[in-house]
Amino acid sequence: MSIKSKLSNLTSRAVGRVADKAVTLPGVKQRVAKEFDAMMAELEPSLKPYRGEFSSYPTLPKDGRPRDDILQEMAALQAREEAKWEEGYASGAVYHGDPAHIEFLNQVYALHSQSNPLHADLWPSANKFEAEIVAMTAHMLGAGQTDDEIVGTVSSGGTESILLAMKTYRDWARATKGITQPEMILPISAHVAFEKAAQYFNIKIVPIPLDENYRADVTAVSQAITPNSIVIVGSAPSFPHGAIDPIAEMAALAQKAGIGFHTDGCLGGFILPWAEKLGYSVPPFDFRVPGVTSMSADTHKYGYAAKGTSVILYRTRELRHYQYYTASDWPGGLYFSPTFAGSRPGALSAACWAAMVSLGEKGYMEATGRILETAVTLKQGIAAIPELRILGDPLWVIAFASDTLDIYKVMDVMAQKGWSLNGLHKPACVHIAVTLRHTRPGVAERFLHDLQEAVAAVKANPQMKGEMAPVYGMAATISARGVVNELLKRYMDLLYEI
Ligand SMILES: Cc1ncc(COP(=O)(O)O)c(C=O)c1O
Repeated sequence: MSIKSKLSNLTSRAVGRVADKAVTLPGVKQRVAKEFDAMMAELEPSLKPYRGEFSSYPTLPKDGRPRDDILQEMAALQAREEAKWEEGYASGAVYHGDPAHIEFLNQVYALHSQSNPLHADLWPSANKFEAEIVAMTAHMLGAGQTDDEIVGTVSSGGTESILLAMKTYRDWARATKGITQPEMILPISAHVAFEKAAQYFNIKIVPIPLDENYRADVTAVSQAITPNSIVIVGSAPSFPHGAIDPIAEMAALAQKAGIGFHTDGCLGGFILPWAEKLGYSVPPFDFRVPGVTSMSADTHKYGYAAKGTSVILYRTRELRHYQYYTASDWPGGLYFSPTFAGSRPGALSAACWAAMVSLGEKGYMEATGRILETAVTLKQGIAAIPELRILGDPLWVIAFASDTLDIYKVMDVMAQKGWSLNGLHKPACVHIAVTLRHTRPGVAERFLHDLQEAVAAVKANPQMKGEMAPVYGMAATISARGVVNELLKRYMDLLYEI
């Protein structure tokens, strides 16, 4: 059983017994705390499988260990890791993964392992790499086809790019419009990083429902605009259903209202430009749409860089200035940093630059072609299973549901067969984000074969004990959400235990 399933299973057990309201009662609170302890104890063996077998350091060793010795042990630990993603068993997660590509990125990392873009005087090459990553990404996403200069920065990932953009709009709206109660107009399918930004930066979310194709409802967007609105968000495509929001219509509303529009291209930024060139039907989504004022695009997903980089782009330098941090009266001297971090791993930017330059337009085009062709095979195969239904009309992030079976049980059977798919809810469905790992010979066929078997197994035994089903049911009941969130916090505590 996967750790995720186990956690879900345990969560459902806890949630099944208590509701948020009851937890405030002292007796119940104690019982829940005890129950959580027991659950965490149950999870420990699968989360800490190396305990007892490998050396462990709750404190610094008195004398340093020989390097060879350390390397040997780390190699042994690494060899135990599951390499399921290599065989294409994971949705998303590793987007390229060919050994030669990984080796190349590792070589570049090693060359630049000491560099830190915070010290531009020491490592001007790190800034060169970042400036070019931003420029190449901007040109892929419409710079040069609009009169505006598209600018940006490199961040550590999609979440940071999104947090930065939302902070930027908050500060821009406060400075230029005097807005002190900012509101973000956010389709419910937008990535949860926007909700994180809203929490961190005190921005109110105005949620937007989806239409029958899982795209943001434009009428609802138009009705949501108030004098406190600072930004409208659209996804290209969304994480859950792979749906591309009606960016042109939404951005036009933003432009008319004089507010920002952010296209979240974290998932699609490095696919859609090539999909369009390959002749797939791609609605306008980038800076060629006049109202789009910022975009996020993740180099560490379909940009095929190592994990730890993303690009955040703005239509104007003025907007980018609201992202920057500067300090002129600190005793530590004059200080400035473009993103949230101070010191940053320049080696990741070097590896990102090298990934982009080594692939080139041709490499991205070919990779996109392979991914989209594999996605067609998968979509046809899923659609041919009578019990399943694909949500909307996705290109390569394929969500599917069932009107007759418990889709989470289908996912559980797939997990038993080795597949790591993403469970989604509201509505109940599962998705697979197709990567280059799935384009290898036989992987799509294996997926469809296993999916047919999983559906047949659940159909033959609908009463089978599900692991995900109960927890998603519980998470849907508002009364128990607080309990689920508490349990997730305890789970994170456990991750930091030795
Ligand atoms: C559409 C979208 N936006 C943002 C993110 C967040 O990216 P990250 O996990 O790199 O922070 C994701 C991640 O899957 C995504 O799919």
